[in-house]
Amino acid sequence: MKLIIFNAKPYDMESFNQANNRGTHELIFIEQPLSQATAHFADKAVSICIFVNDILDSTLLKHLFEKGVRLICLRCAGYNNVDINAARELGMHVVHVPAYSPYAVAEHTLGLMLALNRHIPEANHRVHRGNFSLDGLKGFDMHAKTAGIIGTGRIGALVACSLQALGMRVLAVDPIINKACCEQSVEYVAMETLLSQSDIISLHCPYNEQNCHLINAASISKMKPGVMLINTSRGGLLDTGAAIAGLESGQIGYLGLDVYEREQNLFFQDLSDKGIDDTDLKTLLAFPNVLITPHQAFFTVEAMRNIAEATLASLSEFEKNKPLSYEISK
Ligand code: NAI
Repeated sequence: MKLIIFNAKPYDMESFNQANNRGTHELIFIEQPLSQATAHFADKAVSICIFVNDILDSTLLKHLFEKGVRLICLRCAGYNNVDINAARELGMHVVHVPAYSPYAVAEHTLGLMLALNRHIPEANHRVHRGNFSLDGLKGFDMHAKTAGIIGTGRIGALVACSLQALGMRVLAVDPIINKACCEQSVEYVAMETLLSQSDIISLHCPYNEQNCHLINAASISKMKPGVMLINTSRGGLLDTGAAIAGLESGQIGYLGLDVYEREQNLFFQDLSDKGIDDTDLKTLLAFPNVLITPHQAFFTVEAMRNIAEATLASLSEFEKNKPLSYEISK
């Protein structure tokens, strides 16, 4: 079956071609993101595949439906970029890849925490220039400190468990209690308690209307002065302006981001010869205690293989009129 894969990078082509090594499906790779201007690449196709920053609002969905598209495959877990209700009303199916590798994201989250705490990027930069001084590189023991995990689903639970292994006390907030976390002595508490007691706070909940700017000026003011804040989930969970104010006042001591609320026209591209056209991002990058990675937490060999295989499995199910194992039911 034909699949039009938008926003395709060389690494997507590699993993999808490997997963399709028997030539079961016809894969058409489009380098551009999906938009009204590029929707014509989906002419006469029934199935398309998109990534995290391809925005599918009701207008674009209707346009694609009229062209004949019936299956939308998200090659990611989060689906905040697609108007699921509009797709359902049109009778379109939307699938995603819910758990291609929670380990990849959890491990990257730990990487951000450790790198920020021990100033590893700065230390590496110094050593490469022949500067072996330790001034300004002092970190803190994570052992016996408190971590707050907001969202204890697949990824948050792994992060909680790893931090416990480092000897941290772990607090959590989630409307759904994860039994495995309780068994590991993760303490579910009220948001206020998590904010006021945690030395490190890490976000692992989805972005949706209710969670927009979940972390804002009011919540930052309730955190411990000098707190470390980590977001590897979705940029819109954090009010960037409030985070900048928190960094300026010292309320936020360290900020680690793999996602950014206006990443759509920036991330996944090489803009090194054009510069960054985003004032807030430039402000963030000027702080020495801010570490930003370009939405790469998912990006491991295993995750890319799982994403491609699960997406093509959904395509086969759809082709054979079978129930879709990874259909998004909101
Ligand atoms: P999951 O669905 O297993 O867990 C999410 C948890 O968040 C659920 O237990 C839910 O009850 C909880 N939650 C929802 N709203 C909440 C709130 N306001 N406060 C506290 N908890 C809340 O999701 P999973 O697989 O753990 O992924 C989490 C997020 O990570 C995804 O939504 C996605 O946005 C992000 N992600 C980022 C990647 C990256 O490369 N940076 C890759 C994959 C996922």
